[in-house]
Amino acid sequence: MASNEGPALALADITCRFAARDDASKAYTAVANATLNVARGEFVSVVGPTGCGKSTLLNVAAGLLEPSSGTVEVFGERLLAANGVNRRAGYMFQADALMPWRTGIDNVIAGLEFRGVPRADAIGQGEAWLRRVGLAGFGDRYPHQMSGGMRKRLALAQTLILSPDILLMDEPFSALDVQTRQLMENELLALWAEDRKSVLFITHDLEEAIALSDRVVVLSAGPATRPIGDFKVDLPRPRDVSEIRMTPAFLDLHREIWAAMKEEVLKAYEQQKAI
Ligand SMILES: Nc1ncnc2c1ncn2[C@@H]1O[C@H](COP(=O)(O)OP(=O)(O)O)[C@@H](O)[C@H]1O
Ligand SMILES: [Mg+2]
Repeated sequence: MASNEGPALALADITCRFAARDDASKAYTAVANATLNVARGEFVSVVGPTGCGKSTLLNVAAGLLEPSSGTVEVFGERLLAANGVNRRAGYMFQADALMPWRTGIDNVIAGLEFRGVPRADAIGQGEAWLRRVGLAGFGDRYPHQMSGGMRKRLALAQTLILSPDILLMDEPFSALDVQTRQLMENELLALWAEDRKSVLFITHDLEEAIALSDRVVVLSAGPATRPIGDFKVDLPRPRDVSEIRMTPAFLDLHREIWAAMKEEVLKAYEQQKAI
């Protein structure tokens, strides 16, 4: 039986060390003593400069990476690498996980097929999801016959069809042009509003983080990255991400969070120049 106690996701005192590239005897501490919770139904964004350890934290939450120390609990149940990945979660990464040899519909239903759902049933659910993400009639197209935005919609349907209790998203829209990106952000919010799953959304873009989230967590620059700020986003929903950015409440929040983030971004930039 799946446990249902506790927050959707509780990362406690997580530290991740990697062997240094040039000298395996030296360790690089990417993340140090990071604690982060996502409540049920909460949309949390984690922002931080490039290379600070955002993907590392997400991979820990996904059960894809065992932390050097610290614990992960999913609805109150300890996540152990020995038991495999976080099965309550669905993932969306920057590069979509579409299979180029499968049509749109066959990509959407791939997860259901792996779970042994009969094909006719899976196709029925898949068609419904294609409609929900605005891809009705495109099920027979292959990913290479779709635009970047369409592929993202497909990837979203592919993830959501499995009805995960937690959504883990790692800069899913950062490769899109600004207009398509805002459309996708609105689409994500509309789908999320239907059943309010718990979301951990990783981005380097503070505006995106505020527009989408209930809470924004700011990470320090690496090494030894950890949360340095936690901001509640009390903007009304439903939101239109392109309109909400213009409101005074949004701009106030942006100013406040940027003040916490700016120094870390500059630090990370100096480090990148030094490499
Ligand atoms: N498997 C790994 N081995 C060695 N170093 C890694 C590994 N994964 C990440 N790193 C290092 O950890 C730091 C954080 O990486 P990452 O989590 O990908 O950052 P972000 O997603 O914030 O851009 C970087 O310096 C990166 O080079
Ligand atoms: Mg990353």
